[in-house]
This record gives sequence, C-alpha cells and structure tokens, in this order.
Amino acid sequence: MKNAWWKEAVIYQIYPRSFCDSNGDGIGDIEGIISKLDYLKRLGIDIIWLSPIYESPNDDNGYDISDYQNIMREFGNMKDFDQLLEQAHIRNIRIIMDLVVNHTSDEHPWFIESRKSKENPYRDFYIWKEGKDGREPNNWGSWFGGSAWEYDDATDMYYLHIFSKKQPDLNWDNDKVRQKIYEMMRWWLEKGVDGFRMDVISLISKNPAFPDGEIHGLYGDLAPYCAHGPHVHEYLKEMNREVLSQYDIMTVGETSCVTLEEAKKYAGEDRQELNMVFQFEHVELGSGIYGKWNDQPIDLIALKKVFKKWEEGLEGIGWNALFWSNHDQPRAVSRYGNDGEYREYSAKMLGVCLHLMKGTPYIYQGEELGMTNAGFTDLSDYRDLESINAYHELVEVQGVEPEQMMRYLGKVSRDNARTPMQWNTETNAGFTTGTPWIKVNENYKKINAAAQLKDPDSIYNFYRRLIQIRHEEEIVVSGSFEMLMEESGQIFAYQRVLDDKKLVVLCNFTPNHVTFDGVPKKADILIENYKNGGGTYLRPYEAIAYKIKTYE
Ligand code: GLC
Ligand code: CA
Repeated sequence: MKNAWWKEAVIYQIYPRSFCDSNGDGIGDIEGIISKLDYLKRLGIDIIWLSPIYESPNDDNGYDISDYQNIMREFGNMKDFDQLLEQAHIRNIRIIMDLVVNHTSDEHPWFIESRKSKENPYRDFYIWKEGKDGREPNNWGSWFGGSAWEYDDATDMYYLHIFSKKQPDLNWDNDKVRQKIYEMMRWWLEKGVDGFRMDVISLISKNPAFPDGEIHGLYGDLAPYCAHGPHVHEYLKEMNREVLSQYDIMTVGETSCVTLEEAKKYAGEDRQELNMVFQFEHVELGSGIYGKWNDQPIDLIALKKVFKKWEEGLEGIGWNALFWSNHDQPRAVSRYGNDGEYREYSAKMLGVCLHLMKGTPYIYQGEELGMTNAGFTDLSDYRDLESINAYHELVEVQGVEPEQMMRYLGKVSRDNARTPMQWNTETNAGFTTGTPWIKVNENYKKINAAAQLKDPDSIYNFYRRLIQIRHEEEIVVSGSFEMLMEESGQIFAYQRVLDDKKLVVLCNFTPNHVTFDGVPKKADILIENYKNGGGTYLRPYEAIAYKIKTYE
C-alpha cells in the first residue's frame, strides 16, 4: 500500500464546547484551544479533528449548521480561527474540519427559503414529500426520536430529518446542492485546512421509493433506504474529482451502518473516494432490544472478532480508522476497561491495544488522561438531545423503568464524553471561571492534566510514549496484522510483521491474573504498563508489546 502522512499520524479529536473556555462564559472556545496547543504538541499528536465550529443554533451542539462559512459566535470569530490554523501549523499540527453536509440547521438560509413555497428556487435543496392519508409520507423513525418527517404548514408538506427536526436532510440528488457544498469545501481548503471528517456521509443518498421500513420499537427503520444509497459512491467520486483530489489533504468518513464490503468501496485505495472510514461494529456490540440503550458489558471474544474482521479484511485494500471513543460514545476506560481500582492500568492497556493495531489511531479529548463517564444521576444534568429524547420515548411510551433508563444513560449517553476537559484542581477543573454549560466530572481533583504532566508514570505520559513509538517504529504503521489467541475470552493478542521483524502485543482485558503460553525468549519489551512484565502470565489489565527479530 502507498505511504501517506495520515497513515503515520495520530489524530486528536477536540469537542470545542468542552475543551477550554477562555472568557468565562462556561463554553469552550477557539482561544481556549489555541492556549492548549502546546499541551497537544507535547503529547505528540499530528492532526486535530475539530468538531463543528460553524454558526449554529446548537440544537445538536454544532452538528446543525446555519452558516458554513462563519464561526459560531460562542466560539469566537474567523480571525480566531485563522490564528488557530496558523498556530497549529507553526507547531506542525494539521487541522481537519468536521464536514456536516447530510443536513443543515432549519435556520440555514437555504432551508428558510426552501420552506417558503413550492416554487422557491431552494425548494429542492431539501427532501419534501406529500403526506399519506393525513399522516407522514412513510413510517421512518428519526435517530433522535419521533418520526423522521416534520409537517410544515406553509405548503402542507413534510420534510425529511434523519436527526432532529432542526436538522433537515439536504437533497443530494440536486446538482445545485452538491455544487454549493463543493464550493464551500474549496473555500475552507483554500484557507489551508488539512482535510475533513465527514459526518454521516453514508446517509446522503436516499432510496427514491421511500418505502416503509421494518418496525423497530415505535417506528420503521430508515437505515436500509438511506445508508449507502443508490448514488453515494457516485457523489463521493464526483466530490473527490472536483475538490478533494486537488489538495494534499486527508478524509475520513463517518459511515454509519457500514459493512466491510461497503467500506472497501468508500475507502479502497484505488477508488478515489475517501482515505478511511469509521466503522461502528465494536461500539455497537452492547446493543439490545432498545438499540444502543443498554447496560450490558461487552464480550471480549466478540470484540476481537470485529477487529480481526476489519484489520484483516482491509489489508492491502484500504486503511483503518482506529478509535475507542468520540463525542458520541461513552468514555473508553468506562466502557472497555475499568474505571475503578484499575483505571490507570486499563486506560494504558486500551491505549496499547488500539495504537499498535494497523490503521490511524484517534484519541478523543481526555482519553489521554483516562477520563471516565460523567456519573450523572439526575436527568436534569443531561444536555444531549438524543439522550433526553430517548429517556422520554423509552420511559413514557415504551414502559422502561426510570431507574433502568438512568442506568442506560449512565453507561452510554453521549454526555459521558462531553463533560469538560479536566485541566487542573482549580474550580471547574480549570475549564472555565464561569458556570460550565455541562457539569464537570466530580473526579477532577484526582484525574487532571496538571497532575499527569508532572508524573512520569501517568496515562498522559504513557500515551506520549505510544505516539512516539508510532513515529519511530515503521512496523507499527506498515506491518501486516494477525490476530492471536482468538479463543481467549481474557486476552486480546495480535502480531504485526514487517520483513524480518515482528511485534507481539498482549492485552489482558480482565481484572484477573491470567496465564498463557509464553513468547520467544529473544524478545525485547517495547512498551508495558506494569514494571518487570514478561513470561507466561498477565496481571490485571496488563499490556505488553514485544519486539522480536525473527531471523537472528
Ligand atoms: C454524527 C455526529 C453526531 C451528530 C449526528 C448528526 O453522528 O457525530 O454527533 O449528532 O451525526 O449530525
Ligand atoms: Ca467561552
């Protein structure tokens, strides 16, 4: 496979609202990010993925955009952004932007026009349908609760919104929509941004028949008719030809519902679409009858199967995007590790496991500190509309017990990852001098950046070492991947091979002491989260990576 800077890189995701507040209004902002660039440089990351910073009424924290070429007032202005880009580039850090183009805000001028009349020149920028027997055009359910159709008085028709009703879906079958989006993308690229993370890009092309979906819960499932629709690859190829291929940038698609076969199309190296995609099979393992709302632990064998499938399946064809967490997922250590007694060991173990696989690793802000789930016990602490809507729908309509639902939220609500970054032991963890928009996790006195910067054994410094290893060891970037000990329900083990070199990685995903058949004696330890590891056992959440020279 070809070399590329984004294959050698580690990407750090910033959720600006919760990162650092520079002016005391309780909301993170661009100046706050600039003030932490040295922190990120020290960590060693190469690329920042910036969650949306555009003008937005914030129904979905910036994923509902009302002006693609302006900065959200709460975050600053375009001058601040230009500063951020310049200051990042000075430090050799690239910035990729969140591109949210499956939908806009309902307050975007295009939608304001579109809803005015059937004859409006912007009418076909969105997806409008007549009702059926006085009801919605079909039975599709929105991913944020309720119907996916919203009735609009002005023209007695419905518009489609896969997400909230303040996020109407754009009509990608309209040539003018695509051209407007490409223009906007070029504008950002001319500014010097280094690429895009494309929000739910797998949903942009809808099945034109708009058939009813299979009932899941209260509504029909729209996924089979909206994910990987009839023209999605054609549109991405067009976007690549007209925009992406003209610049030295990287792209990663958030491809909801993606299968390995589809991923090969989105991210196949010879396909001229995207560089890589996020797949969600590992984060969806805990799902149950209420979809993601569940509190079941994740089965390690199943988890390993997912990674084996993706690592081996894309070998020689496309590139993996590796992540445990992001702004839509709970905290990695709370979900896959242990956020109690073994928090530090398990956070480091998860780092080893992810960063030494084949693909580009993504760190979600705070993961490098082992930040944990929010620990909210009251519905009023939650801010996320998905969580709040789901609470009402499941408790009030589907009969889930309130305590049960609060447990589900505590496990998987998106707000678990959205509590403010924990910088130090000052008020509000040093995130803001004002009142934070969402509660700070109470454990900030114990878990914070200031303490970890000083401690050579901290999770932060361990991540720093992991990133350094990626930059130094070619095998981590280019070695082939092979899963080991597939049957083990306790150890996640794999090897990477490059020429006569081998890297063996062993990770204990349990709080128990486990034994296994040993590794060759002629092995050097590349990184370990305990001291004096080696041999035929692993301590609770122990991780160890061996470098082996095969031919000596
Ligand atoms: C993506 C984003 C998520 C957002 C949704 C709608 O899944 O990651 O945060 O709510 O798209 O834009
Ligand atoms: Ca602020």
